[in-house]
Amino acid sequence: MSLAFLIKMRHFNFIMRKTGLPNREKAQDIRSVKLLFSFLLPYKKYIILSLIAMLFSTAAVLAIPQGIKTLVDEAMSTKSTALLNKAVLLMVGLVVVLGLSIYARNIYSRMLGVLMVADIRNKVYRHILYLSPTFYDKRRTGEIISRLTADVAILRITWGMQIPYVVRGLLMLFAGLGLLFYTSVKLTLILLVVVPPVMVISLMLGKSMRKHSKNQQDKVADLSVQVEESISAVRTVQAFTQEEFEVARYARSVDESIDAAKLQIRSTALFFSVSVAIAFAGVIGVLWLGGSEVIADKMTAGTLLAYLMYVLFLGDALGSISQFYSSLQSAAGAAERLFDLLDARTDVRQPKEPKSLKEAQKGREIIFDKVSFAYPANEHEAILKDLNLHIKAGETLAIVGPSGAGKSTLFHLLLRFYDPIKGSIVLDGEKLTEVDLQAIRKSVAMVAQESTVFATSVMENIRYGKPDATDDEVIEAAKLAQVHAFVQEFENGYDTYLGEKGVRLSGGQKQRIAIARTILRNPDVLLLDEATSNLDAKSEQKIQQAIEEVAKERTTLVIAHRLATVKSADRIIVMNKGQIVDEGKHEDLLESSALYKSLAELQFLRTDH
Ligand SMILES: Nc1ncnc2c1ncn2[C@@H]1O[C@H](COP(=O)(O)OP(=O)(O)OP(=O)(O)O)[C@@H](O)[C@H]1O
Ligand SMILES: [Mg+2]
Repeated sequence: MSLAFLIKMRHFNFIMRKTGLPNREKAQDIRSVKLLFSFLLPYKKYIILSLIAMLFSTAAVLAIPQGIKTLVDEAMSTKSTALLNKAVLLMVGLVVVLGLSIYARNIYSRMLGVLMVADIRNKVYRHILYLSPTFYDKRRTGEIISRLTADVAILRITWGMQIPYVVRGLLMLFAGLGLLFYTSVKLTLILLVVVPPVMVISLMLGKSMRKHSKNQQDKVADLSVQVEESISAVRTVQAFTQEEFEVARYARSVDESIDAAKLQIRSTALFFSVSVAIAFAGVIGVLWLGGSEVIADKMTAGTLLAYLMYVLFLGDALGSISQFYSSLQSAAGAAERLFDLLDARTDVRQPKEPKSLKEAQKGREIIFDKVSFAYPANEHEAILKDLNLHIKAGETLAIVGPSGAGKSTLFHLLLRFYDPIKGSIVLDGEKLTEVDLQAIRKSVAMVAQESTVFATSVMENIRYGKPDATDDEVIEAAKLAQVHAFVQEFENGYDTYLGEKGVRLSGGQKQRIAIARTILRNPDVLLLDEATSNLDAKSEQKIQQAIEEVAKERTTLVIAHRLATVKSADRIIVMNKGQIVDEGKHEDLLESSALYKSLAELQFLRTDH
């Protein structure tokens, strides 16, 4: 059975079980096999060299018993030292060939595994990194990570270690069988009657062993997903004193993995004990039958010895072939999970003929034209409903509204993280869905509600906004965003390492770093999702000045929680339940909009400094 066929079958069964859609899936399934081979193609040289090495090592192994036969039958029986030396010399030569070819085979086949898998990793990572948030809304991070690590490792083991063994096994099987017949037809015919039922028994045992061990691996994988989740939220766990709850949950899963391991251990123990017993029973059987032939002078002792060795080689070859079938299955499973990531598509894609944006003068004009939207994770809940909004180039627009009104969602749509379900968003006369994705994101930049800080230095965190920025440019942006002052107090200044997710910073500091990064990017459209209470009065005032300064030259949308922001805006819109319910200036809205008045009283008037 060819490799491609086996992988196909495995893939096919899996898909059939999952969806029951044979035809469409069949195409996908062929694609999966093609993909796997496309990753092998660049390494043809490695495949050929390891095959050649394998031919040599197999030939050397198979020739050794012939040397032993000569040694026993000719040298020993004639007591000739010259013949003994000759036979030994021959075998030493074979051992040297064997050593060299095993070395070469290991190097080439293992390197093949490593290199191919590195390519898959890079390709999958690149692919998913370009997928829109829709994809991540529906997946667990731990699961994606495990695909890129565990599944990739399975492929590496299969391609780098298992496949060479099976090829060697097949070579050994055919050549060995030929040699068995050549050595003794009678013994071999008897063997061929006895072997199949024995094979069936050991295959069955092997199958149950592998089923249990896969089950056990799955349980262990569940464990790491749990750890990933609770460790990344360890502060929440502790704040809610849920340590014991998490410990118990983990312990339950550990128990399950122990149960799975028990079954696996039992079946493995049985498999090995039966296999070894069968192997030795085989040896004894051959010795018995062959021994009587030797006694009857129908066979020499050397031939029997050589024969016995071939039987053992053959047993080993059969073993690695049968084991390979299951490892192929797990490799196919792993490949499937990886290619499932590679196949993942989101609706937000680069248009076929992307339009570029014209040179921005002073910000960009933005039009929301009857935009309706629901998040893909919750398709039936309309978050924006027939929303119309016209923002002039260079305008500063403040957006206010109760929590959940859809304010941040407007920003997500402007960055084209998601596409509207109905209506369209037009940026400087071009529909967002028709514009080059990278161009949109070069032109529109956001300071998100939850600021992201990477596990690197202050300098690099800010420079993320413009990778080719000089240190001076970074410091300039840092000064505007009120980062400079607090960074001065750090021992290592701008080189200070900020810890994973920026744990060494306060909420307000993180926010200011995020603002500096966006200022450095110098976008045409600036989106600011203000977090409420992260800043003290003094830095707030300074940031406000900075933002007003920065806002002058571009279109700025601010989700506002502060009086200073709404007052400095050209216009304020009030959002509620996915619609714009009022718009105007602060003073007018206080008069005309009941919702604005109540929000203002709760949010900015109370915190007015
Ligand atoms: N990724 C998502 N998947 C599904 N639903 C989402 C997603 N993000 C937000 N929502 C839902 O969309 C609605 C609007 O969210 P949005 O973040 O736009 O509110 P907001 O006006 O910014 O609120 P806040 O002032 O609290 O930040 C909420 O009801 C929220 O549950
Ligand atoms: Mg929000």
